[in-house]
Amino acid sequence: MAKKIETAMVQAGRQPVKQQGLVNPPLKRGSTVLFPSMAAKRETGRHILEPVEIYGLCGNETHFALENAIATIEGGRHCQITGSGLSAITVPLLAYLNAGDHLLMPDSVYGPSRTFCDNVLRRFGVETSYYDPMLDEPGIAALFRPQTRVLFTESPGSHTFEVQDIPMLARVAHARGAKVFMDNTWGLHHFQPFQHGVDVSIQALTKYAGGHSDIILGAITVNTDEDWHWLRRGALELGNYASPDDCWLALRGLRTLLVRLRAQDEAGRRIATWFAARPEVARVLHPALPSCPGHEFFQRDFTGACGLFGVVFRPQFSAEDIVRMIDALQLFGIGASWGGYESLVLPTTGTIHRSAGTGVFEGELARFHVGLENPDDLIEDLDQGLAVLRGA
Ligand SMILES: Cc1ncc(COP(=O)(O)O)c(C=O)c1O
Repeated sequence: MAKKIETAMVQAGRQPVKQQGLVNPPLKRGSTVLFPSMAAKRETGRHILEPVEIYGLCGNETHFALENAIATIEGGRHCQITGSGLSAITVPLLAYLNAGDHLLMPDSVYGPSRTFCDNVLRRFGVETSYYDPMLDEPGIAALFRPQTRVLFTESPGSHTFEVQDIPMLARVAHARGAKVFMDNTWGLHHFQPFQHGVDVSIQALTKYAGGHSDIILGAITVNTDEDWHWLRRGALELGNYASPDDCWLALRGLRTLLVRLRAQDEAGRRIATWFAARPEVARVLHPALPSCPGHEFFQRDFTGACGLFGVVFRPQFSAEDIVRMIDALQLFGIGASWGGYESLVLPTTGTIHRSAGTGVFEGELARFHVGLENPDDLIEDLDQGLAVLRGA
């Protein structure tokens, strides 16, 4: 029987009979795995591509349970857990690319991904070109070279929320023999990457999967055995590892993920719509609103949103005015990351680094993450924050 996603998320990775009846998979730690004989050790070592306990670095039952659950939510076949969301980006790039290859990255990509390409990949002879995330088919096709092996996507983009036309990008890339990697952290299960042509889907589990701002973790999911071979081997060769404690917390977080996500999506859209009607605001960068670049692709390809969006303020407000407003907010924490149960805010204009001429807006930007507080309380707080912004 094909299970709906809510049911699958309750069941994924759990085997209560094997777990002595306990509801949750056990938290297992360990480096050495002992075998009864050399023959048994040799035989187990042949199964490096399977969820088998060989040595701590290759993962244990706790990792495998989470990998099973993430593959389920992403609609993919194989998953590799990584030590952070950033390493879920760097590991597949390092595992797949060779010196002399060319990589296409969206101009709106998460800042540390850009730094990794410009600093690390460059040193290893991989050239990166940044493209406008809203380019049309002829525009993106023109950027491909014979050496282009990966088209990276992140949809929506970091801080500026451009939603990309992933099926079109995948068509262009595949016709030229390139693979499509996607940072799908914002979309989570609302964007099914493999149904839209993505080959490698990346999640920062630090965000909504963790859900409580207390873990750092990533996941890479693929849908073919061929992709699994290079990815799994590459991850092991790079010494990738994640703490079982964090995996266990992520597994627990996943059981309630869809309920939290639904509440934060609903509150996020309400607050984004409230911002859009305010005279202090030039436009709201929430993929579910028509003012967001690529809104039509969100409508077509996504089944929902999360609680993270951007606000562009009117040009008369300076960066200092935005900081005064942020300092005045009582219910929005000031800090990096997102996906927890708490509301957060950051000014983002100064953190946007672009090289393909995108990300230019009429005023200062701030990024809001809507948590699980009562949205009426959040709106009341934002209302007093906007009064401070106006100097009232
Ligand atoms: C879109 C996106 N991808 C990846 C990451 C990296 O995740 P981590 O902090 O777990 O390295 C972040 C973190 O903010 C992010 O926003």
